[in-house]
Amino acid sequence: MDLIKVKDYQTMSEKGCAYLLNHFQTLKNPILGLATGSTPEGLYKQLIEKYKKGFISFRDVSTFNLDEYVGLEEKDPNSYHYYMNEKLFNHIDISKENVHLPNGTVTNLQQECRDYERLIEQAGYVDVQILGLGLNGHIGFNEPGTPFSSRTHAVELNESTREANARFFDSKEAVPRQAITMGIETILESKEILLLVSGKKKAVALARLLSGDIREDFPASALKKHPHVTIIADEDACVHI
Ligand code: GLP
Repeated sequence: MDLIKVKDYQTMSEKGCAYLLNHFQTLKNPILGLATGSTPEGLYKQLIEKYKKGFISFRDVSTFNLDEYVGLEEKDPNSYHYYMNEKLFNHIDISKENVHLPNGTVTNLQQECRDYERLIEQAGYVDVQILGLGLNGHIGFNEPGTPFSSRTHAVELNESTREANARFFDSKEAVPRQAITMGIETILESKEILLLVSGKKKAVALARLLSGDIREDFPASALKKHPHVTIIADEDACVHI
């Protein structure tokens, strides 16, 4: 894993954007793996800016999001569909049919997970997967204890994750109890992985990732098995390194 330390959130977002643009140049039809949460918002702003200035087009880009809550409709402001539309897709020239997120409103979640896996495989797998880091080391919604061999699956969210994400909802009770997430093995099949880490509250998790063992009780440690992982972390996130 390569670690790039940067000054602050803004610089992390700019570097992340530069990293992506670099990869875009080498790919004919880039397939991007996308994350939600606070961390990649700055990166999405940067991408929109580059698009508006004419430096980049998303016409040939396909995307696969990591995860989605179970039970939230696309128009629900707390769904990851809504987040992606608001923070990125509505502002760029990406074609809607090239955009993919798991659908958490279906009755047969297992079938949805299988279909999502098949779509990723048919597309030829993700070229660059963007990831954020959960406080407990989760990636996507793969909570501690998730087998490294997991594929896209439905999960029960940990209380700590529901608490961490409650800031987006009216109350913690409103945070869904289940989600669909790409599995750890699915994530590791991406050709390149870009992990963004920002802020003091992520410092313990980042230090554990860098110096700890590869263990299923710390999902992000699976990334150490991947040959092409780049971490861009700001000074606050690096205080324990
Ligand atoms: C959330 C999401 C992840 C995200 C992570 C960190 O629960 N499911 O995809 O990367 O937790 O979120 P944040 O960037 O808001 O700290």
